[in-house]
Amino acid sequence: MIEIAASILSADFTQLGAQLREAFTAGVARVHVDVMDGQFVPNLSMGPEVLAAVRSTADAFGATVTAHLMIVQPERFVSTFVEAGAHRIIVHVESALHLLSTLQRIRQLGAAPAVAIDPSTSLVMLDEILAEVDLVLVMGVEPGFGGQRLHPASLEKIGRLKQMLAERRLERVEIAVDGGVHVETIGAVAKAGVNYAVVGSALFNSHSSVTENLRALREAASRSVPVHEPTETERMPS
Ligand code: DX5
Ligand code: ZN
Repeated sequence: MIEIAASILSADFTQLGAQLREAFTAGVARVHVDVMDGQFVPNLSMGPEVLAAVRSTADAFGATVTAHLMIVQPERFVSTFVEAGAHRIIVHVESALHLLSTLQRIRQLGAAPAVAIDPSTSLVMLDEILAEVDLVLVMGVEPGFGGQRLHPASLEKIGRLKQMLAERRLERVEIAVDGGVHVETIGAVAKAGVNYAVVGSALFNSHSSVTENLRALREAASRSVPVHEPTETERMPS
């Protein structure tokens, strides 16, 4: 069964502790904290203080906390987020100035190094650093906002990444997908063979409780549903 990591970007921040405890009680073991700077992505979000608060809640349940750094030159803030309590630091291949030393620094600091790759970026960009990471985060959407539609080509990209890892005997490197995962798409994401899916708006929303959303996602994950390719009309901006 595909694991679900909770992206708090869509959480009710007035209820963050309660929503996290609900997710942990229902078996969520990883929390994903999206850090945005308004430069690498056209949005602002959370910083180290929020991550530290999440970590203090996660500890009681043995859950891990991941910082997804959607910022320019993430090497500037790697130590800040490790000190705040991140177990895992994800930097974007598109924004890290010297990716190799950034990943090595994350490991030296005691966290797990990971790299994220945008839908439009070729896997070739990971060629030289695959052996340095514990996780590749395949973006299912352009980074910056929750609630977007999964780019179907991301699933095919996951297949090619798995092949690259197998050829290099790097099966220990985990693969996760981030963005656009909900009940309609999680079946196809699970079938693509990722270790886990990062889920935001399909987990934290006003329609249902976190517990009920998790139940629905897990049930949908066990079915295999093809991802709906948008028609020309659906692609047109409204
Ligand atoms: C998007 C973020 C995601 C976001 C996913 O840039 O990296 O983690 O929370 O949101 P959903 O699950 O709503 O697509
Ligand atoms: Zn994210």
